[in-house]
Amino acid sequence: MDIRTRRLRGSDLLRKMTRETRLSVNSLIYPMFIREGTGIVEDIPSLEGQVRYSPDTIVQGIEIALKAGVRSFLFFGLPEEKDEVGSGAYDENGVVQQALRNIKKQFGSDVYLITDLCLCEYTSHGHCGLIIKDYVDNDSTLPLLAKTALSHAQAGADMVAPSGMMDGTIAALRQGLDSEGFIDIPIMSYAAKYASAFYGPFRDAAGSAPQFGDRKTYQMDYHNSNEAIKRIMIDIDESADLIIVKPALPSLDIIAKAREAINLPIAAYSVSGEYAMIKAAGAADLIDEYNVMCESAVSIYRAGADILITYYAKELAAAIGKGDIG
Ligand code: PBG
Repeated sequence: MDIRTRRLRGSDLLRKMTRETRLSVNSLIYPMFIREGTGIVEDIPSLEGQVRYSPDTIVQGIEIALKAGVRSFLFFGLPEEKDEVGSGAYDENGVVQQALRNIKKQFGSDVYLITDLCLCEYTSHGHCGLIIKDYVDNDSTLPLLAKTALSHAQAGADMVAPSGMMDGTIAALRQGLDSEGFIDIPIMSYAAKYASAFYGPFRDAAGSAPQFGDRKTYQMDYHNSNEAIKRIMIDIDESADLIIVKPALPSLDIIAKAREAINLPIAAYSVSGEYAMIKAAGAADLIDEYNVMCESAVSIYRAGADILITYYAKELAAAIGKGDIG
């Protein structure tokens, strides 16, 4: 019998010394919601522990996260008014644009600001693109996404993350950003994004549930894995700088497969449903929330992710700080 692995498990310090998976607070991204108004800090019922800020109070939220050690953020905007063409998304005084300016003014390069680029929070129908004859029209959506990316970059975004799954998005954004001189703004593509029931709490939080139909014509069928790799390759061809796999826990195989196939950074998005499940089961005393949070995060990195986008960013930063994980 080989006793070596048992010897390696013998002491807590040695176990930590020989861990195969390493985590760093630098690789955590914290998603945050910004709604229109002033002085607002409101709880999100579907995402216990998460809040919506207005563009002025968001700096308080950033301050708290910075104290916990988290420095990278992903923003979602919730406009007051929605319309057919999602104009709030590319309004230079839109909620996200205002928030970006306020945060950059206060924190400069101490923070890294990423914007989720999608029309679904801004359209009255809740779809990620323009509707033409009851159908989400791919090509006419692209210029609007490029316009949105540009307005985010002008307001201070460090990186954009298109999540709408329209074909040709990355090329359109790259061209749009480059032509205005934003050649150094990276694009993190939601390349492998499944049509997932795990986004339920988010749609409630962001008020972005489709008013008719579903997202299955543009998000991926969870029966497929080759398709995920194909989409990732297409986005890399179009010059994506980082890629996202989403949701995270149900897609560990995809993360591992992508890890084998590509050498760009892979971000896993542990989505609202993953967070809400752990929260709810923890509150019901069915599982130990802290330990399940830690194990879930580590397993996502173990599968091959470089970056973790998670609503637990602050708590995970604390766990890493204590040495419980990482
Ligand atoms: C926008 C978008 C969604 C999420 C991130 N960007 C919702 C969706 O595709 O329906 C989900 C994030 C989460 O569930 O935490 N398209």
